[in-house]
Amino acid sequence: MYDIVLIPGDGIGTEITESVTSILDSAGVDINWINCKAGETAQKEMDNPLPEETIEAIKKYRIVLKGPLATPVGAGFRSINVALRQKFDLYSNIRPAKSLPNIESPYREVDIVLFRENTQGLYIGKEHWVDEHQQHAESIAVVTRDASEKIITAAFEYAKKHGRKKVSLVHKANILKLTTGLFLKIGKEISENYPSIEFEDLIVDNMAMQMVLRPQQFDVIVTTNLFGDILSDLASGLVGGLGVTGAANIGENAAMFEAVHGSAPDIAGQNKANPTALLFSALMMLEYLEEFRKAERIRSAVYTVLQDHKEVCTQDIGGQGTTQSYTDAICKLLRD
Ligand code: NAI
Repeated sequence: MYDIVLIPGDGIGTEITESVTSILDSAGVDINWINCKAGETAQKEMDNPLPEETIEAIKKYRIVLKGPLATPVGAGFRSINVALRQKFDLYSNIRPAKSLPNIESPYREVDIVLFRENTQGLYIGKEHWVDEHQQHAESIAVVTRDASEKIITAAFEYAKKHGRKKVSLVHKANILKLTTGLFLKIGKEISENYPSIEFEDLIVDNMAMQMVLRPQQFDVIVTTNLFGDILSDLASGLVGGLGVTGAANIGENAAMFEAVHGSAPDIAGQNKANPTALLFSALMMLEYLEEFRKAERIRSAVYTVLQDHKEVCTQDIGGQGTTQSYTDAICKLLRD
C-alpha cells in the first residue's frame, strides 16, 4: 500500500482525478490517497492557495498526484504550480509525447521525451516595475550551473537508461548569451561524458519549425523552463493534444505527477474532459514506484479502448463519449 498525496485542483481537476483513481483501483493498485487542496479551490475555501497542511503532507509522503491549478492572469496570487516546483526543488520536468493508436493527427511515429528545467529561467516570474506609473516592466531570467547540470544530466541519464539515441539541447544563445549561453556550454561539456549518445543544439525558433516539419527526427530534448513550457505544448499538439500528454516533476526528495494541461475552465463540470493526460502522469508515477507491470497493463487497456472502442472516448480526440464512458470502458477491461 502506497501513501500518496492527491490534489484534485481546479476546473476539470475533480473529474479527471476521480477518473484516474478509479482506473488505478480497477487495476488493483493499492493506494491510500491523502486528499489535499491547493490553487483557486484552496484560495476560495481556506483563503490560502497553498495551505500549510498541503505543504506538510507533501513533506511527509513525498509523492503527489496533482490535477491542474488555475493561476489568475495579470494579477492575483502567483502560480502555485511554480511555487510547488521551487519549494520541493522538483528540477526535472519530464514530458513525453508519443503517437497513440487511432488518434487523428498528420504526424505518425512521434516519440519525444522533453526535459524541461523546472525551477529557473525566465519562468520564475521575478518581475518589477521600473517606473511609478507602471508603464515600464522588467523580468529577470536566472540560470545557474548547478541547476543546468542537474537537468542536462537527467536527460542524458534517461537517454542512456532507455536506449535513446540522441539528445537535442534547445537554447537562444545567439541573443541571451549569458543565461541560455551558459546552459548550452554546460550541455556541450556534459555531452562529452556520453559518447554513444548523439548530441545536437538548436536555437528555439528553428526548433519550433523543425518540430512541426519533421518531429520524428527528435528523441530526447532538454531545454530551459519557458522554452520547455512552450515546446512541450507544441509536442502535445503533434500527438493528439493536451488531453493525452502526461508529465512528471522530479527532485531528489519529492516527485509530483501532473498533466501538461491546465484547468480547462471552458469545459469544467461538463463530463467532457479527457483524463488520459493525468492517467499517463499516474503511469509515470507507477513507473517511479517500479510498478512497471501494472503501468503497462493500464497503458495497454487505454490503447485497446482507443483502438477498438473509439466511440466511448472523449470528443477532443474524435470520440463521441464522455469522461465517464471512457473511464468505465478502461475500468471494465481492467476488471475483466
Ligand atoms: P488549458 O490547458 O486549461 O486549456 C487549453 C485548451 O485545451 C482548452 O480548450 C481546454 O478545453 C483544452 N483541454 C485542456 N485539457 C483538456 C483535457 N484534459 N481534455 C480535453 N480538453 C482539454 O490552458 P489555459 O486555458 O491556457 O489555462 C487555464 C488555467 O489553467 C489557467 O489558470 C492556467 O494558469 C492553468 N494552467 C495550469 C497548469 C498546471 O496546473 N500545471 C498548466 C497550464 C495552465
